[in-house]
Amino acid sequence: MRFQSALTVISAVAVGHVAAETGALGDAIVVKNNPPAPIYKASLPADPFFKTGSLNGNVRGSITAVGTLSGEGVQFKVRFENLPKEGGPFMYHIHVDPVPSNGNCTATLAHHDPFVRGEATPCDASKHETCQVGDLSGKWGNVTSDPFEMTYTDPYAALVPGIGSNFGNRSFVFHFGNKTRISCANFQVVSGTELSPSDTCNGTAPSGTGSPLSPTTTPTTGPRITNAASAASFSLVALVGAVGALFFSL
Ligand SMILES: *[C@@H]1O[C@H](CO)[C@@H](O)[C@H](O)[C@H]1NC(C)=O
Ligand SMILES: *[C@@H]1O[C@H](CO)[C@@H](O)[C@H](O)[C@H]1NC(C)=O
Ligand SMILES: *[C@@H]1O[C@H](CO)[C@@H](O)[C@H](O)[C@H]1NC(C)=O
Ligand SMILES: *[C@@H]1O[C@H](CO)[C@@H](O)[C@H](O)[C@H]1NC(C)=O
Ligand SMILES: *[C@@H]1O[C@H](CO)[C@@H](O)[C@H](O)[C@H]1NC(C)=O
Repeated sequence: MRFQSALTVISAVAVGHVAAETGALGDAIVVKNNPPAPIYKASLPADPFFKTGSLNGNVRGSITAVGTLSGEGVQFKVRFENLPKEGGPFMYHIHVDPVPSNGNCTATLAHHDPFVRGEATPCDASKHETCQVGDLSGKWGNVTSDPFEMTYTDPYAALVPGIGSNFGNRSFVFHFGNKTRISCANFQVVSGTELSPSDTCNGTAPSGTGSPLSPTTTPTTGPRITNAASAASFSLVALVGAVGALFFSL
């Protein structure tokens, strides 16, 4: 425990601000060097983890995620349908660990929280940097309709390889309003041909700022932000991520 605390202090100092009242490391940092490819997708399985109640089969749905052309943030497209009749509004979060092959959603552990905001801290939806990075519905809104579809660019999400805040090797969990886990799925790299036309051609999909959810129009090379400030923030994110990974492994 002493080792853990020492690391928290070191990394909090490195980040430059300690927000003890809201979390061990303070506000999330904008990720400015996400790669524009590949596309990640997590699709809920046929069978739910939570097996009682009014659910007919499982909630159907997925989260598709891809880096933006500017490198800032990650564009998400979420779609859910066939929701339970009771227990809403529903929430969804990126979780720390992947789902094991037996489908155990409890084994995904807690919300992906590289800045150690903690569970007890209410997320201020008007200040996304105060939220757990993985608390997507806390930042962008709960699932309140069936079907539900939304596209947004989250500046704090990371798909940069090799840093602990990267979520491409992790999972998301779909919850009842009381946090009970209904279903979960792992993010996986998908090729362009595995994306259905509705993922790429729906007029409601890419909304302005992000890159299109289509690899055919996504250059694999091109300008990246390489100034010193963003390099510094990248290494801070990497440090925070590494510390976060250490926490989760203890
Ligand atoms: C959460 O809500 C669901 C739907 O209403 C219910 O079936 C489940 O038992 C609740 N979980 C807990 C821990 O109360
Ligand atoms: C599911 O995962 C949790 C947390 O790791 C564990 O306590 C539980 O035993 C697991 N259940 C099954 C059926 O594997
Ligand atoms: C996911 O990848 C990141 C970056 O490589 C790493 O730090 C983290 O430990 C990985 N997490 C899991 C659950 O494998
Ligand atoms: C989502 O629903 C939960 C459970 O009702 C609630 O606690 C939370 O404040 C809601 N979040 C948002 C962003 O509305
Ligand atoms: C796009 O998605 C919306 C919401 O699900 C749907 O109403 C609309 O018909 C879709 N448009 C196309 C062209 O598929």
